Amino acid sequence: MNFKKIAVIVGSLRRESFNKKMAIVLMALAPKELLLELIEIGDLEMYNQDLDDSPPSSWIIFRKHLTEYDGVLFITPEYNRSVPAVLKNALDVGSRPYGKNIWDGKSGAIVSVSIGSIGGFGANHHLRQMLTYLNVSTMAQPEAYIGDVAKLFNSSGELINESTRQFMLKFLKAFSDWGEKFPVEKQALLTFEANEMH
Ligand code: FNR
Repeated sequence: MNFKKIAVIVGSLRRESFNKKMAIVLMALAPKELLLELIEIGDLEMYNQDLDDSPPSSWIIFRKHLTEYDGVLFITPEYNRSVPAVLKNALDVGSRPYGKNIWDGKSGAIVSVSIGSIGGFGANHHLRQMLTYLNVSTMAQPEAYIGDVAKLFNSSGELINESTRQFMLKFLKAFSDWGEKFPVEKQALLTFEANEMH
């Protein structure tokens, strides 16, 4: 089993975010083959194509930093049945300039976390759709829709639900195997051209 570096991207900026708490749990539970590191996206300027010729330093640093990672683990809330704007912005910033999509060829996995009972299903699948276009090989199974999250953590931010912990261990083990079972070739230009024809 090869060692892999995984960027952890959280779709919430909230101080007491449940998604951030889940990210911390996942980082602690990761098997030795996976190094999980949190990447901040809250300081990225809003994507504007006019800036492609002279990008803000936050974009340059983010794009360069992401090249160090073999894969990306997204942990996101659902906002209005989709992903929060801050996460969409990070995906857009990383996808440009044309032909330099930093997501291209990486392994991916998604955990959606909600205080509601549907577990962020809408956000999870909108994200999956975007990652397909960006040529990320996103793990199919197990899926992770974590609902009623307020009941899973205590007031100190610790995960108190054992079955969720066991599920997360299984999820991380599957993600560790995923990239080797389904490696993906870089092909951003091909993908883009194929899509332009439709
Ligand atoms: C929400 N929330 C929410 N929940 C959900 O299950 N489906 C949804 O579509 C939405 N929509 C939504 C929109 C906006 C603007 C906010 C602020 C919230 C509730 C959301 O799941 C809840 O606030 C989570 O606790 C957010 O995640 P963090 O910040 O705790 O990680």
